[in-house]
Amino acid sequence: MQSTNLIFTDNLRNSLKQWLADYAPTQVYVLCDEHTNALCLPLINNLDSLKSAHFMTIPAGDQHKNVETLSAVWQFLSQNGATRKSVLLNVGGGMVSDLGGFAAASFKRGIDVINLPTTILAAVDASVGGKTGINFNGLKNEIGAFHLPKAVLFYAPFFHSLDRDNILSGFSEMLKHGLLSDEAYLGELMSLDLEEPDNTAFLNAIKRSVEIKADITEKDPQEKGLRKALNLGHTAGHAFEALSHHRNEPVLHGYAIAWGLICELYLASKLLGFPSQTLHQVIQFVKDRYGIFQITCQDYSFLYEAMTHDKKNDTKAINFTLLSNVGTICLNQTADKSLIDEMLDFYRDAMGI
Ligand SMILES: NC(=O)c1ccc[n+]([C@@H]2O[C@H](COP(=O)([O-])OP(=O)(O)OC[C@H]3O[C@@H](n4cnc5c(N)ncnc54)[C@H](O)[C@@H]3O)[C@@H](O)[C@H]2O)c1
Ligand SMILES: [Zn+2]
Repeated sequence: MQSTNLIFTDNLRNSLKQWLADYAPTQVYVLCDEHTNALCLPLINNLDSLKSAHFMTIPAGDQHKNVETLSAVWQFLSQNGATRKSVLLNVGGGMVSDLGGFAAASFKRGIDVINLPTTILAAVDASVGGKTGINFNGLKNEIGAFHLPKAVLFYAPFFHSLDRDNILSGFSEMLKHGLLSDEAYLGELMSLDLEEPDNTAFLNAIKRSVEIKADITEKDPQEKGLRKALNLGHTAGHAFEALSHHRNEPVLHGYAIAWGLICELYLASKLLGFPSQTLHQVIQFVKDRYGIFQITCQDYSFLYEAMTHDKKNDTKAINFTLLSNVGTICLNQTADKSLIDEMLDFYRDAMGI
């Protein structure tokens, strides 16, 4: 089976040089957004193996993960003579790797991709596992393809310039990985200093998270079963995210997932006996770092509708990935409207709102 070369490096220039020398693509194309152009590209500039590369910068932000930007990337590849043997280097967060990944998946029926994730979210989630795509018709990730990167190069200095919100946003996916894997890793995560994302403990945790995500996606690349585990926290989390957009006060994805985890761990404790002590530890941790997402009972119908529209649900019973304990995954659990209301009551209680 195809798999991705995961390279953790403290000398990106050497690792990239080595990789390109071994792989020998006919031509290299580098995609970044306006922020990663300014903040991250300087860390690999003047590299001999990139001397004849073509560079493209796209606007930053998820609102640009659309068909217009995609078309501009196709133009860039086409006009600069990319062939089936070319490689695209995505230098950026999940927006760049999703859009660049899909441009590569579709250009000449597929050219190779390497990801250089520059956000924590991209490192532990978006850059690994091969999901690519763009937003379309007002819907997130509506058009896309599975297209595994040939390699992902992880380089901590990229994370120096991230703001606290983006660090926390990526971290909630790591918290999810801890819950999906084992008590020891979860404990380590909850004792990390999140103000210092480049210390050794944090970097080891990133590595562990990447391994957990890669392991799950390698076992189930097309999301037929186990990969659904990665949806933990996301059914409720996507609904909070949608509500925040509806209110014109968008929150970062990872923040919504942190609050979604509280909701879904409540369901897990109610339906499957997930330990309430761990639930309460996670609540405290999330409250302290991510603050509170305000909701009232007036928001329940919006949130319920958002959950029923989540693409993983075929019926009005809402589908969740839950846990009976840390590391014990139970896929395809369902909750009806009254249990969803109870879950939201619990969330408000836990948050003190
Ligand atoms: N394919 C998948 O499996 C998968 C999984 C999770 C999320 N995603 C997608 O990933 C995207 C979210 O990822 P993201 O949070 O990385 O978003 P992003 O790529 O939009 O990055 C967030 C912001 O940080 C900036 N940035 C990037 N690197 C930086 C750095 N080193 N220093 C300073 N600023 C930097 C970006 O320019 C942007 O403004 C969404 O589009 C989401 O749908 C995909
Ligand atoms: Zn997520």
